[in-house]
Parts: sequence; C-alpha cells; structure tokens
Amino acid sequence: MTRVQPWGGVAGKRVVITGATNGIGLAAAVELARRGAQLTLVARSESRAADVVRRIQAERADAQVDVLLADLASQASIRRLASEALTKYPSIQVLINNAGAIYARQQLSPDGIELTWAVNHLAPFLLTSLLLDRLKASAPARIVTTSSGAHEDAAIPFDDLAANRGSGGWGFPRYGQTKLANILFTAELARRLAGTGVTANAYHPGFVASGFNRNNGLLMRIGMAITRPFARSTDQGAQTLVWLVDSEEAGRTSGGYFFDMRPATPSAAAQDLQAAQRLWQLSDDEIR
Ligand SMILES: NC(=O)c1ccc[n+]([C@@H]2O[C@H](COP(=O)([O-])OP(=O)(O)OC[C@H]3O[C@@H](n4cnc5c(N)ncnc54)[C@H](OP(=O)(O)O)[C@@H]3O)[C@@H](O)[C@H]2O)c1
Repeated sequence: MTRVQPWGGVAGKRVVITGATNGIGLAAAVELARRGAQLTLVARSESRAADVVRRIQAERADAQVDVLLADLASQASIRRLASEALTKYPSIQVLINNAGAIYARQQLSPDGIELTWAVNHLAPFLLTSLLLDRLKASAPARIVTTSSGAHEDAAIPFDDLAANRGSGGWGFPRYGQTKLANILFTAELARRLAGTGVTANAYHPGFVASGFNRNNGLLMRIGMAITRPFARSTDQGAQTLVWLVDSEEAGRTSGGYFFDMRPATPSAAAQDLQAAQRLWQLSDDEIR
C-alpha cells in the first residue's frame, strides 16, 4: 500500500478505457464524461463506438471523446493502439482495463493464444506495459482493471498457461483463471510502481446485467436472460470503477481489490505474491 499525491478528481484528465461499447464500461464512460474526463474509448467496432460517442454527447454536449480502434485479441492491434495513443496524448492519467469476455468453446487468438487468456489477461498486460512510461510521466495516475468474483475458485495453471492440455481451457474455469490473473497482475504492477505516483487497483463489479456471455449461443443467452432479474444494473456495476478513478480516497491504495467501493479480500491464490511475480515473467514472455 502506497501513499500518493492529491488527485483532484477525474475532470480534465485523459482517461483511456477499453470495453466501453457495452455494459459496465459503457456506463462508466458515460459517468466519467459527465464528471468532465477527457475520454479515449478503445473499441473494435467503429460504428458501436460512434453510437457511444453520440450517447455521451447527448448527456454532455461539450464532452471530449476520442475513439481508437483495436481488437484486443491481437497483440499487433494493441501495439498499433498504444503507438497511436502515445502519439496523440502527451499525458495519460488513467488507464482502465475493462474489456473482457468468456468463450464457451476453446478458440485461439490471431497470435495462436487461447482467446480468453489473450483478451482478458494478456491484453491488459501488454497495453499497460506499452503505456506505462506515459502514465508515470503523467503522475499522479491510476490504472484500474476489472476483475471478478469468478476468480475465487481458480488457480493459475502454471504448467499449462496456454491451456493446451487437460480440461479448463475454456468456459467458466478458464474465465476464472483470467480474472485471477487480473488481480495477480495488479498486485505485481503495484509493487513495481511503488513510489512513482501511479496506482494500480482491481475490482469486482458484482453480477451485472450486461452483454456478458451473449456471444456463446442461444442457450447461454437464455441463461443470462433468466438470471437477469438477479443482476445489478450496469450503472451499479460501474460504481466502484468510477469511484476508483475519480475519488481522492481510492488513490490512497495501490495493489488493492475492491467491491462496492470498499477493500475486499480476494482468494488466497490471488494474494500469492510469488505467483504474481511468476505470472508477470511468463506473461512477459508471451508478448514478445
Ligand atoms: N457482467 C458481469 O456480471 C461481470 C461480473 C464480473 C466481472 N465482469 C467483467 O466486467 C468487464 C466488462 O464486461 P461486461 O459485463 O460489461 O460485458 P459486455 O457488456 O459484454 O462488455 C464487454 C466489452 O468488452 C469489449 N470487448 C470484448 N472483446 C474485445 C476485443 N477482443 N477487443 C476489444 N474490445 C473487446 C466489448 O466490445 P464489443 O462491443 O465490440 O463486443 C464490450 O465493450 C469484463 O472484464 C468482465 O470480465 C463482468
């Protein structure tokens, strides 16, 4: 845990957010724009991003919203995105790694990496690494990653990170591994950032009625529709994210895991700092 400089809220700050074309990220983007953030939406669909820009500007006519296109499944696309962001923005004070997905079938990314791992873990790892010097130069700065309570029963398969062998290479077990990886990544990132004025935190948004798991066929869509009445709204799901980005209080912690705007205790596996360092090294090898 590190003490950092005063923050002064998100107004006027450059915020790069992934996964803001739907669900939790969209709700957060609308609220952050309302609070005066200068937003950069990272999106893979130009038309969906344009819809979000219109929606934000309907809420706040003078909102400053840029769009950078990238498919976060592809490392080449992430590298292009980072290069554009570094050219365009002399300072970046907030990076929100929010995009994420679950896949009911085992699939590979364009780089030949299991897709859940590529999108949910390696994409934030690579994007953060590429923007890190700019974030440090813009300090105080914040990095927030959307994890999940789904990490709780997971363990990182260190002997088979690519999930090439055995079970658990897709669906909920794999999703849980990636969300555990988000917390371990955040812990090691915070350790490496100590004293720089850049904080790194992760959070669980709760069970949220979003577009999540709607990419996995009719049965899954029906399942999500049935459970929808038990889910919170996307605005509620985005509350902790907005708080982590905007509030003075959240800047007092780095390496934390939050739920409902309070520190939460993640699983024992998520508190294993040696595992966090090991995962960092192995992830570094996967982005070269
Ligand atoms: N919903 C829940 O109950 C819940 C609970 C815990 C944690 N979470 C986490 O919350 C985060 C947001 O999910 P959500 O529930 O808001 O789901 P969502 O409505 O499906 O939104 C996911 C967002 O990620 C983007 N995305 C997915 N794959 C991408 C890729 N390859 N490249 C670029 N963007 C990509 C989507 O873009 P498109 O519009 O192009 O598809 C969309 O903007 C995820 O990290 C998820 O793991 C969700």
